[in-house]
Amino acid sequence: MKGTLMRTWLTDMFGLAVPVVCAPMAGVADGALAAAVSRAGALGMVGVGATATPEWITRQCRVAAAAGAPVGVGLQAWALEHNPGQLDAVLAAGPALVSVSYGPYAKHLPRLKQAGLTVATTVGNLQEARAAEQAGIDVIVARGSEGGGHGRDEVGTLPLLQSVLDTVTTPVLAAGGIGTSRGVAAVVTAGAVGAWVGTAFLTCTEASTSRAARARLIAATDTDTVYTRVFDIGARVGWPREFGERALRNQFHDRWAGHEEDLADDAAAAQEMTQAREVECYDTACLDAGQGVALLHRELTAADVVAELARADDLLRRAAAG
Ligand SMILES: Cc1cc2nc3c(=O)[nH]c(=O)nc-3n(C[C@H](O)[C@H](O)[C@H](O)COP(=O)(O)O)c2cc1C
Repeated sequence: MKGTLMRTWLTDMFGLAVPVVCAPMAGVADGALAAAVSRAGALGMVGVGATATPEWITRQCRVAAAAGAPVGVGLQAWALEHNPGQLDAVLAAGPALVSVSYGPYAKHLPRLKQAGLTVATTVGNLQEARAAEQAGIDVIVARGSEGGGHGRDEVGTLPLLQSVLDTVTTPVLAAGGIGTSRGVAAVVTAGAVGAWVGTAFLTCTEASTSRAARARLIAATDTDTVYTRVFDIGARVGWPREFGERALRNQFHDRWAGHEEDLADDAAAAQEMTQAREVECYDTACLDAGQGVALLHRELTAADVVAELARADDLLRRAAAG
């Protein structure tokens, strides 16, 4: 690896050129994006949604493995309660890294570790970080509230990262709002073993993001996201209530925010969301994205995004040179 200043536990563990993980993003990060990221020298991950079948996982892992480089898979722990076959499929695929986040993840650790897999989980506050270390997690993802998709809305990335690094000895990845080489340089300098990056990959050519969604994401500004449960309630999705999501604010959100109980009983609104998803109407349908969405200016290949994030090495060299 050229940039020795960016050598960390993560790069050594998986033989990466860049200390970056492309976060598992259900509906966005399928096997093709994971393969492209891993080919480019970071770690790509397949994002598994709550209703994904074991067969889908097997297929996407095969596509990702075609990169001939390590790849990961990200599971949602709450979904395993009613879709346990997902775990079996991941164990059979044997990816380099498995993340199990959001819900009761610890009970799955013995099987994953017995299979020799490296396991990550996402934390949104210090108490969760302590619990993850105690459970025997291999790498903790400290995700601040500015991050895209589901998680907690309790602590921002920087304060969370600092307190988690001060508290645990387990390797820590920083997540939430990291979208350029500046962000990667900052968190690696602070002591993170790398950055766990989602939003910056949303408009990659290899992502499963639709054309209409890409346009919306590229047009969004730094104040266009909102942390909410409106979309999950509207779509009747069973996410645990402590995990809302950060998404682009839209007309549907503004109509229902503050009226979530009414929304839960409104069959017509649920129908409206289903239809909006089908026709890709993002005035109603949900588009998950973090505050870093403002850093998306155009479609890029995953290799371009990884190359930009890798420029953190130049920043670190400049800082070291004084
Ligand atoms: C569209 C989207 C989908 C996501 N889906 C998942 C998921 O399926 N599993 C998961 O563990 N995290 C998921 N996340 C959260 C990411 O793993 C990560 O924590 C987040 O993207 C980091 O913040 P950033 O978006 O500011 O980079 C998702 C995020 C986004 C933006």
